[in-house]
Amino acid sequence: MDIAVTDHLLSTTRAVRRRLDLERPVGRDVILDCLRLAVQAPTGGNKQAWRWLVVDDPGVRADVAEIYGRRTLAVIDRRYPHLKDPQTRRVYEGARYLATVLARVPVLIVPCVQGRPDDPGAPHPAAFYGSIFPAIWSLQLALRSRRMGSVLTTPFTGEDERRYAEILRLPATMTPVALLPVAYTIGDEFKPARRPPIETITRWNGWTDRPEKDLP
Ligand SMILES: Cc1cc2nc3c(=O)[nH]c(=O)nc-3n(C[C@H](O)[C@H](O)[C@H](O)COP(=O)(O)O)c2cc1C
Repeated sequence: MDIAVTDHLLSTTRAVRRRLDLERPVGRDVILDCLRLAVQAPTGGNKQAWRWLVVDDPGVRADVAEIYGRRTLAVIDRRYPHLKDPQTRRVYEGARYLATVLARVPVLIVPCVQGRPDDPGAPHPAAFYGSIFPAIWSLQLALRSRRMGSVLTTPFTGEDERRYAEILRLPATMTPVALLPVAYTIGDEFKPARRPPIETITRWNGWTDRPEKDLP
């Protein structure tokens, strides 16, 4: 195992919005390679109820982008004027850009779970949704290692879910969880994000008010 390579991959896989290459096509084979890796991820009870809907048809992408843009831009326009933190403002600016170009992103991947979270006997939400997110992250890592970028978006809320389901011909028994725009990236340099020192958000052997290093 090459730790340097693995650590670089894990620390530089970012949410890519502005640096998606809208001109370069993405082949189906490379998407299938990445999905093949993604389904190595764990699932609760080894259920593997994941299903993967890949959209590369320009007409379907345009229909998805139409709903996505309408809702996302409305939310951004409402919240943006109140944002103070520069990093959060940049995320919103990136999200606005993405919403305006989504139809031109070569591939959209919709990870789904077979079943509904409110089905009788459905797993606890932690396991229902928790069984798809490890695979989604593996997918994003596999894409990054092939010079592609992606961003995990969650547009399937409320009334919109029904509209998306119609466009994507999703059966009522299927739960779409996320929408990942996928494209080759413009450039390959991504930096680790700034995060609080891990010691400040970690406790050992039970929760105390302050991290161990601050204790007398
Ligand atoms: C559960 C979840 C939901 C997210 N939903 C959205 C979304 O709807 N739209 C979007 O642009 N980004 C979304 N993101 C991406 C985050 O905004 C992004 O990961 C965060 O800004 C940190 O950026 P980084 O990944 O580059 O460090 C989501 C991420 C997660 C984990």
